[in-house]
Amino acid sequence: MKLEYNDALFAVSQTELDAHASLAVAAYQETIQKSGRGNDFLGWLSLPEDVSEQDIQDIEECAAKLTAQSKVVVVIGIGGSYLGARAVIEALQHCFKPMMRSDLPTVLYAGNNMSEDYIHDLLNVLDENDYSLVVISKSGTTTEPALAFRVLKQHCEDKYGVDAARDRIVAITDRARGALKTLATQEGYPTFVIPDDVGGRYSVLTPVGLLPIAIAGFSIRKLLDGAKAMRKELYDNADFAHNQAMQYALLRYMLYNQGLKVELMASFEPKFFYFVEWFKQLFGESEGKENKGIFPAGAIFSTDLHSLGQYIQEGSRQLFETILTVEHAHSFVNIPFDEQNTDGLNYLQHRSIDEICHIAQQGTCQAHVDGQVPNIKITIPEINEFHLGELIYFFEMSCAISGYMLKVNPFDQPGVEAYKRNMFRLLGKPGYEK
Ligand code: PA5
Repeated sequence: MKLEYNDALFAVSQTELDAHASLAVAAYQETIQKSGRGNDFLGWLSLPEDVSEQDIQDIEECAAKLTAQSKVVVVIGIGGSYLGARAVIEALQHCFKPMMRSDLPTVLYAGNNMSEDYIHDLLNVLDENDYSLVVISKSGTTTEPALAFRVLKQHCEDKYGVDAARDRIVAITDRARGALKTLATQEGYPTFVIPDDVGGRYSVLTPVGLLPIAIAGFSIRKLLDGAKAMRKELYDNADFAHNQAMQYALLRYMLYNQGLKVELMASFEPKFFYFVEWFKQLFGESEGKENKGIFPAGAIFSTDLHSLGQYIQEGSRQLFETILTVEHAHSFVNIPFDEQNTDGLNYLQHRSIDEICHIAQQGTCQAHVDGQVPNIKITIPEINEFHLGELIYFFEMSCAISGYMLKVNPFDQPGVEAYKRNMFRLLGKPGYEK
């Protein structure tokens, strides 16, 4: 993974960055020495190493069992109990997986919305396909997944019988607390534990992400290897000049202090749509508190060049852009020669779509820099488990450093409770009358 920021230096110079490097170093030290706010939620720092061979085998075994008996596996969860798995699966799987014949089950998602039509349509799919359920909630009490699980559990028991349904349901939750833990124990569901010291949005390298990713047929070993490699890189390089997480975090911080309050995480790779969603949650929930924080926005180009492009180029100057880019595609699609050349595209005949896309990216970045939008580039050689593992650890570390530079606790989310309290009061939940 490579971080480049030459196209941001017109806004913050290298000299300014170097002059403020000690801020990033201090926040980095606060993170790795576990001396800052929220330091009881820093278990993710050592996760790639902490997942043991036995843990991996247990997850792979469970995935193999669910895979063998299911055309569909529904992953039920929200926020950190959902986005990491989906980010990795959608980046790795065939773009049209549900339409392809495959021995692997299709992973579908529930519990991340409260749309009656969505759950109804999902039940239609489950009527017609053999399926299993993986229900994920650290607190075990989040309303959206709990509601979805109640409906899907009932459907599963009606379809397969109460005993056989137990063989099709796996719970991932807290070691001891919460309604899901109680239910899982009562029903005897196989259960994986989310470590106490790992918060939701930092939990993709626990069973929360690893089990769904293994079910989708991808190597959790390579994913963990990528995260380990990035951890080593970031731990071995405790100086600003060689630590890409510190550099990215400080750059963001200095752009923010210049009034650029929105980071647009953009990619020309549509497979990164959910990775960008995961990034938005990681940074938004970690930094956005005490009236501070960069607003994390997302875009997939070229699609969004034809919707947000105008704003990026000429709208309010409050943006900087981070482009997530992939050096090489896995495949090649021939651009055919056309005798008539009515569309005038014969000049592109010997080029790959990937090459054209990279040139489009270059042109876009130049235009945005001309429009005074600082541009940061994060590049991986190709999309695979290893490089996704690297990216995950890189962003987690950068986010912790960023949060500490902003002087907030990057590991809590007190603001998320406000909507829940109102919702419970309006729904008449006992205990929430006032
Ligand atoms: O990052 C977080 O902690 C949150 O986004 C949670 O993951 C989300 O609210 C879901 O919580 P839970 O896993 O307890 O159901």
